[in-house]
Amino acid sequence: MSFIVQPAAPSRLNRCQLFGPGSRPELFEKMARSDADVVNIDLEDSVAPADKPSARKLAIDAIGSIDWGSKTLSVRINGLDSPFWYRDVVDVLEKTGDRLDLLMIPKAGTASDIYAVDALVSSIETATSRRRKIGFEAIIETAAGLMNVNEIAAASPRLQAISLGAADFAASMGMQTTGIGGTQSNYYMISNSGDDSPRTFHWPDPWHAATVAVVGACRTHGLLPVDGPFGDFSDPDGFVAQAKRVATLGMVGKWAIHPSQIKLANSVFTPSEESVAEAREILEVMAQAEREGQGAATYKGKLVDIASIKQAQVIVRQAEMIGF
Ligand code: COA
Ligand code: MG
Repeated sequence: MSFIVQPAAPSRLNRCQLFGPGSRPELFEKMARSDADVVNIDLEDSVAPADKPSARKLAIDAIGSIDWGSKTLSVRINGLDSPFWYRDVVDVLEKTGDRLDLLMIPKAGTASDIYAVDALVSSIETATSRRRKIGFEAIIETAAGLMNVNEIAAASPRLQAISLGAADFAASMGMQTTGIGGTQSNYYMISNSGDDSPRTFHWPDPWHAATVAVVGACRTHGLLPVDGPFGDFSDPDGFVAQAKRVATLGMVGKWAIHPSQIKLANSVFTPSEESVAEAREILEVMAQAEREGQGAATYKGKLVDIASIKQAQVIVRQAEMIGF
């Protein structure tokens, strides 16, 4: 192990991030009352250019007037390639109190993108004497973002989380798909020809490499890795399959772009009672092994060792945050 200890990610729940366009204020109360851990009011791509100023104002009003409970509250600003983002930052920070937790920076391509927003935010915070520092979350959704994800993850102490955004990512990479996340029909393996049995098909995960890159950068720098949208909200099975894959690879949560996806995300990213009980048992078995001077032990017929302690602790920590 490197002598640089891997930093812990922020200890807050991020199982589901529910998005709603800033231009649809009738959704805000519903978002606040939902079971999502994080709520994102969007000023970016779900808001038409003509509606940007009014959506910004509606978002600012909602941050101050709605009871958001214990949710992490985030505003997705416009991209740094747009003429809107600086006004998003200035107005949202100057005209809201301390309730806002995060700004989400879309299409992050280099560490300098994060630096630019940080410089503006830092200046506003000092000028307005904000008591709480605003945190950041970023979206990796371009080829440049993928190539520079490690430096982006290290770019600011404000950063708490990075999401992988499938749709813009696919467009930027030139991928031949219009689907937002999930299985892609043309991305398949086929069994070899030559024998008499019918050929079988298998659909690998086209998002795998990018997912692992985001998880690796986040874990290296103590951030929460999150999977972005799954566009087909009438396909719960597809959503769950995507969520389970990224959970297996280390992500802590997933976006919901429709309320029907919230319970799906929560179910995948909430550890089951059995897995929590098992994790606690593994910790007990290993504590006993340690007392006996052993580094490895047997649990249910399988090897458990010091690495198993860390795996079990991940599950137990998540359970404690949820409160069971
Ligand atoms: N948050 C909270 N509630 C929502 C919601 C959201 N994002 N989207 C829909 N609802 C509510 C509706 O108001 C409706 O409530 P009701 O039963 O009280 O009338 C119910 O959920 C069912 O909504 P439905 O009619 O199926 O959806 P819709 O046609 O109103 O909207 C979308 C569908 C996809 C346009 C909408 O969900 C949406 O804008 N999602 C977020 C998009 C976004 O933010 N994208 C940026 C990130 S990728
Ligand atoms: Mg996007």
